[in-house]
Amino acid sequence: MAKTVGVGITGGIAAYKIVDLVSKLKKDDLDVVVMMTKGACQFINPLTFRSLTGREVVTDLWAKPREYKVQHMSIAQQIDLLVIVPATANFIAKMAMGLANDFLSTLVLANTASVLVVPSMNTNMYKNQIVQENIRTLLSCGYHVMEPDSGLLANGEIGKGRLPGIENIYQEIIEIL
Ligand SMILES: Cc1cc2nc3c(=O)[nH]c(=O)nc-3n(C[C@H](O)[C@H](O)[C@H](O)COP(=O)(O)O)c2cc1C
Repeated sequence: MAKTVGVGITGGIAAYKIVDLVSKLKKDDLDVVVMMTKGACQFINPLTFRSLTGREVVTDLWAKPREYKVQHMSIAQQIDLLVIVPATANFIAKMAMGLANDFLSTLVLANTASVLVVPSMNTNMYKNQIVQENIRTLLSCGYHVMEPDSGLLANGEIGKGRLPGIENIYQEIIEIL
């Protein structure tokens, strides 16, 4: 049976790059379910991912699903791997604290499958001691966390914080699966 990958997109500038990742996963005949934070929806329209995956994109904890199911529980039961990409500093902090105040963070707590976190942010944010402490917390929980790439960032600065290449993220997903 095809494996199911949950892709949780949070509100970073690299959110648009996830279109390529999702279409690459779909070409491999993986089942992909996309979930987006409200922040992510500011950067890219959920319709793009609905078209690519053929599945509803979950953005709202309180939305009424077509058939009655507690969606964060039912998706948690379906997925073989949860990928948070791009993972914002905000979302990493929520994960480290165990907060569950939107759909994606609630799913993270209900999920028992492997988790891959792919941070992407401004270099000063990434180097911030609190962000680093939060990443260590995620690693200590057994989550896989990729290191961002170094290079030119969206704001014109050069430093560490870029989303790793889509091919590298894809390879990491396949390896964990
Ligand atoms: C134009 C713009 C770009 C942003 N890019 C990033 C980013 O790349 N990484 C990040 O951690 N936060 C970024 N932020 C800040 C997040 O969007 C903000 O912290 C938001 O609360 C994240 O919400 P979420 O984690 O629920 O998606 C950006 C904000 C703006 C306005």
